[in-house]
Amino acid sequence: MCGIFAYLNYHVPHTRREILEILLKGLQRLEYRGYDSAGVGIDGGNSKDWENNAKTIHLIKQRGKVKVLDEEIHKQQDIDLDVEFDVHLGIAHTRWATHGVPSPVNSHPQRSDKHNEFIVIHNGIITNYKDLRKFLESKGYEFESETDTESIAKLVKYMYDNRENDEVSFATLVEQVTQQLEGAFALVFKSVHFPGEAVGTRRGSPLLMGVKSDHKLSTDHIPILYRSAGKDKKSCGGSLPRMDQDTCLYPVDEKAVEYYFASDASAVIEHTNRVIFLEDDDIAAVSDGRLSIHRIKRRAGDHPARAIQTLQMELQQIMKGNFSSFMQKEIFEQPESVVNTMRGRVNFNDNTVTLGGLKDHIKEIQRCRRLILIACGTSYHAGVATRQVLEELTELPVMVELASDFLDRNTPVFRDDVCFFISQSGETADSLMALRYCKEQGALTVGITNTVGSSISRETDCGVHINAGPEIGVASTKAYSSQFVALIMFALLMCSDRISMQPRRREIIQGLKVLPDLIKEVLSLDEEIQKLATELYQQKSVLIMGRGYHYATCLEGALKIKEITYMHSEGILAGELKHGPLALVDKLMPVIMIIMRDHTYVKCQNALQQVVARQGRPIVICDKDDYETIKNSSRTIKVPHCVDCLQGILSVIPLQLLSFHLAVLRGYDVDCPRNLAKSVTVE
Ligand code: UD1
Ligand code: BG6
Repeated sequence: MCGIFAYLNYHVPHTRREILEILLKGLQRLEYRGYDSAGVGIDGGNSKDWENNAKTIHLIKQRGKVKVLDEEIHKQQDIDLDVEFDVHLGIAHTRWATHGVPSPVNSHPQRSDKHNEFIVIHNGIITNYKDLRKFLESKGYEFESETDTESIAKLVKYMYDNRENDEVSFATLVEQVTQQLEGAFALVFKSVHFPGEAVGTRRGSPLLMGVKSDHKLSTDHIPILYRSAGKDKKSCGGSLPRMDQDTCLYPVDEKAVEYYFASDASAVIEHTNRVIFLEDDDIAAVSDGRLSIHRIKRRAGDHPARAIQTLQMELQQIMKGNFSSFMQKEIFEQPESVVNTMRGRVNFNDNTVTLGGLKDHIKEIQRCRRLILIACGTSYHAGVATRQVLEELTELPVMVELASDFLDRNTPVFRDDVCFFISQSGETADSLMALRYCKEQGALTVGITNTVGSSISRETDCGVHINAGPEIGVASTKAYSSQFVALIMFALLMCSDRISMQPRRREIIQGLKVLPDLIKEVLSLDEEIQKLATELYQQKSVLIMGRGYHYATCLEGALKIKEITYMHSEGILAGELKHGPLALVDKLMPVIMIIMRDHTYVKCQNALQQVVARQGRPIVICDKDDYETIKNSSRTIKVPHCVDCLQGILSVIPLQLLSFHLAVLRGYDVDCPRNLAKSVTVE
């Protein structure tokens, strides 16, 4: 998915080389989101006077990785990397193609004209770009790319060319532009007409700012400015209030300050942990080193200010450590990440569960008529995995829905429904749209998210942060086990007052207590699973079968294999075998079966017999004490036993490890599988 990074240094002198290093580093931090091309826009000119250099903009864009862009930068003959800038804005972008193929001309920054008067970087999709393009072409603006974004760059120049006076501010132009845009966007603009100034805005796509200064800042709450009601001579209907000491952020005493814009915090955290999360329709402008935020209209319930927040995330949290890939690191983090999900929430001494994020809403949730779990991909599987225990402990009907299908069906939702949105990133477009839909129907919305400050976390009425730490590998692993645990904690909370359920609650809570050690035990099977992978990696297809609590494991295991190994894989409900999938089974087809000692055990044994009778030689993931299955199977992966509703966490880990080893053996990029993105912020 696209990534935005911009850096403005104000009275913090840097050479062009240093600025480019900062920009490229920022893009590298966003690489995990997935992308196919990258670009930067910086001041051109090679004179000693930075202000003079700011009169031209230099664009460098390339298809491929940030490394390729870096090489391209060093090939440029006409830019002197040693020129120093006292004030400078550089903008940078990684693009994931949606409109037009990956190519330099389709990469961002997109420009207004051949002289690069205005340039812009964009995440999201502009849905009315064809109309805008037609209009701008009719006015003589010539387009060069296939992107929706180019119309934004042209439109801002159109607003500038048609300005009513020369006093117009950069922020006002951007505001005029955003009023014409439909769709989703996070944008950062740079212009030769406004040297050393930056304007960023968002609607539907995340954008945050980082601020760094050695000096005390004027405020830690930046008040929102609203356009004054009266129409002034400017065309957009109302003047911007003057920026003064009370209305903007700046360093007191000294002038030196640095600002960052980024689509996610991992790009700014190494520079500063002081960030401002922009809201939809905020226009954040930096001019003369001062940051102001304004909005066109005041809405009921608007916060009067944007707070500077201090992020706790540390850089090493997002680095690979000793592992060969982020995915591998994240699989091995699970003993700790599930502890972090439970930390301060589950008390193993008195068997109680507290979820701070739900405490004010739990009574209302207990009165609801149905629970609907809505998500995409792996997060959806976390819903499938916990549905049964939710039904058991809440005694409520539970629906589990893929967000896209839920929206396609215009699913009836009522005021007495409680809708859960499960999302690692908290930004998945389909889940976010489903959330807005459910809110409109008056349902209570609950987030199960990993990303504090994400759109889903902020827009839900309440929720639980799963606290798994940043997940960087595109294939989700530790977020799955933490979502699983968070949903179980919710189920336990729902029945805390039910006397008849206490023995079951205690059994599950004690299961949670030993879970981290049991996960460690499963991880110790790594070598054995790697060996299995060497036997399987040249196969074309793998079928994974199971039922009950382990149906979700089959779906999730098959998804992991598809995502990163590009092998065909299918998760099959063992109860459906006779209704079709059995036709696939012969002595050559690789089959993995999950058989655990729960209420489906006998039925799973039957399925095993059916497969064996067709000369299948399944690899069985089973309980290490299940001697019967071990005796009857040619190949087993033996995992420790735990309480039935948590066993799915232990059965999925061998499949996470298997997909990882298969991908390595097949020579693929484990963390960035082709055609996929970590955070899918478009429909
Ligand atoms: C909170 C703090 C945590 C602190 C703990 C101490 C945050 C983010 N969490 O954790 O650092 O250690 O108190 O008691 O400051 N929410 C949503 N939607 C979501 C997720 C969460 O609306 O998808 C809301 C919750 O309803 C809650 C807030 O965000 O109001 C924080 O949620 P969470 O981090 O889960 O709460 P605590 O576990 O209490
Ligand atoms: C993408 C990711 O497809 O989005 C998956 O590649 C993920 O790993 C899915 O499961 C849903 O993402 P999220 O952030 O809403 O959990």
